[in-house]
Amino acid sequence: MSQFSAIDISSLKLVKYPDPRLRQVCQRVTDFDESFRALVAKMFEVMYKAGGVGLAGPQVGVAVRLFVANPSGEEGDERVYANPEVFGEEGAVELEEGCLSFPNVTAKVKRFALASIRAQDIDGQPFEEHGEDLLARIYQHETDHINGTLLIDRMSEVAKIANRRTLKELEVAFSG
Ligand code: CO
Repeated sequence: MSQFSAIDISSLKLVKYPDPRLRQVCQRVTDFDESFRALVAKMFEVMYKAGGVGLAGPQVGVAVRLFVANPSGEEGDERVYANPEVFGEEGAVELEEGCLSFPNVTAKVKRFALASIRAQDIDGQPFEEHGEDLLARIYQHETDHINGTLLIDRMSEVAKIANRRTLKELEVAFSG
């Protein structure tokens, strides 16, 4: 039994706020096997379908320290980050930010302008990368997800008020 073999990967769907699975403590990726590759492929599928540039494990209900990204949206720019650690953050920039788990919500969020990341790729090989602008923002947003931190936690009170109707609609939709 490997780490992901009990998961029905084909049935995974985008998890939206306020689903408590977005707040789960995530486990490290330990098994870089066929089921892990299937999970990664499914995460890219969900991310592209929703029109995003990054997606973390909890956003498909899998509480694992993993995110995928395609910062340029170009074919061949798919990136996989397992067990990521962000370091060397510098500078600050405030930009409009969204999240696939918060459809139709955007808010200005202040993030570091530059950041580096240490992670493992789809084969489990360790690598380091340096990110600026959007890529640095993806590192920070997605590692927030695997620590159970969400866009709403980074929003100002003013942004929460500006988005209150959409947030309420998501809460109502979730409680069914
Ligand atoms: Co997000």
